[in-house]
Amino acid sequence: MSKVTVVGAGNVGATCANVLAVNEVASEVVLIDIKEGLAEGKAMDIMQTAQLMGFDSVVTGVTNDYSKTAGSDVVIITSGIPRKPGMTREELIGVNAGIVKSVAENILKHSPNAILIIVSNPMDTMAYLSYKVLGLPRERVIGMGGALDSSRFKYFLSQALGCNANEVEGIVIGGHGDTTMIPLARLATYKGIPVSKLLSEDKLNEVVKSTMVGGATLTGLLGTSAWMAPGAAASFVAESIVKDQKKMITSSVYLNGEYGMKDLNIGVPVVIGRKGVEKIVELDLTADEKAKFEASAEAVHKTNAVLKEMKLI
Ligand SMILES: NC(=O)c1ccc[n+]([C@@H]2O[C@H](COP(=O)([O-])OP(=O)(O)OC[C@H]3O[C@@H](n4cnc5c(N)ncnc54)[C@H](O)[C@@H]3O)[C@@H](O)[C@H]2O)c1
Repeated sequence: MSKVTVVGAGNVGATCANVLAVNEVASEVVLIDIKEGLAEGKAMDIMQTAQLMGFDSVVTGVTNDYSKTAGSDVVIITSGIPRKPGMTREELIGVNAGIVKSVAENILKHSPNAILIIVSNPMDTMAYLSYKVLGLPRERVIGMGGALDSSRFKYFLSQALGCNANEVEGIVIGGHGDTTMIPLARLATYKGIPVSKLLSEDKLNEVVKSTMVGGATLTGLLGTSAWMAPGAAASFVAESIVKDQKKMITSSVYLNGEYGMKDLNIGVPVVIGRKGVEKIVELDLTADEKAKFEASAEAVHKTNAVLKEMKLI
């Protein structure tokens, strides 16, 4: 028996609620939005698939009534504006920072023990803001970006290899941005075989590039940012918490010395279980990977500085 709340019933939030229900991640899913009737409508639509899909989870929708979210084990925050073609995730900070802060404060009034999964962009900065202002231990503030970026990396690898994506391993670390994420090609494998043995350097570079602009490519095609894989990725992280699966998932967590970094949230592999972040895994990076990670952290710090200018932290 577990309860998961999804804040924001837009594209990502509603898709996430749907995946949570279909996969029976939680017995109770609450969808909440500021827009009158939207969450209620999306929840009813999902519930009308229950008999077709054969799930028993109950999804309810509410407009801005946080009392209905009380006692949530996990809360996924997707509220805010998405990017339009040509925009970077970082350009969303002005609007989304205020939304994420107020939403998280409301959530904690009713679910003081909840573990938060932050999805709204620029995600690393929104996760950092949440950690800084809410007074929660860092284990309970998880930024979702690496789960999605790693899934995209595995997709592009499987396309290049002509194989099943479930048989490919690959992780993406660093910031959740077109230029800041670092797909770790060196560690990617197909059935335990390093992909560098199976793909040419050029092909592998192409896969890395496609992964990095994966979100922007979809934004160009769809006219707004993608939602299927992002919604599923947020549910994937929630499932590891609720079911104590202890999966290793790249997530944006607050670093306090790990990887030689301090005072930022950035994507690193972590073990996720019932307590949230249960372990930060420190990979042995090469000099080149380290340099890329440092540049990525620098860019994230720069975006975080806007929070100070806005007097939000
Ligand atoms: N981290 C990731 O990997 C990832 C991936 C995709 C999208 N995103 C981000 O997720 C966010 C949502 O994207 P989307 O495509 O679902 O956008 P969307 O516009 O479809 O949905 C956002 C929803 O948030 C709601 N909202 C706004 N202010 C609110 C508030 N104060 N309280 C409750 N609800 C509020 C809106 O009414 C809307 O329904 C964006 O910031 C987007 O950039 C992140």
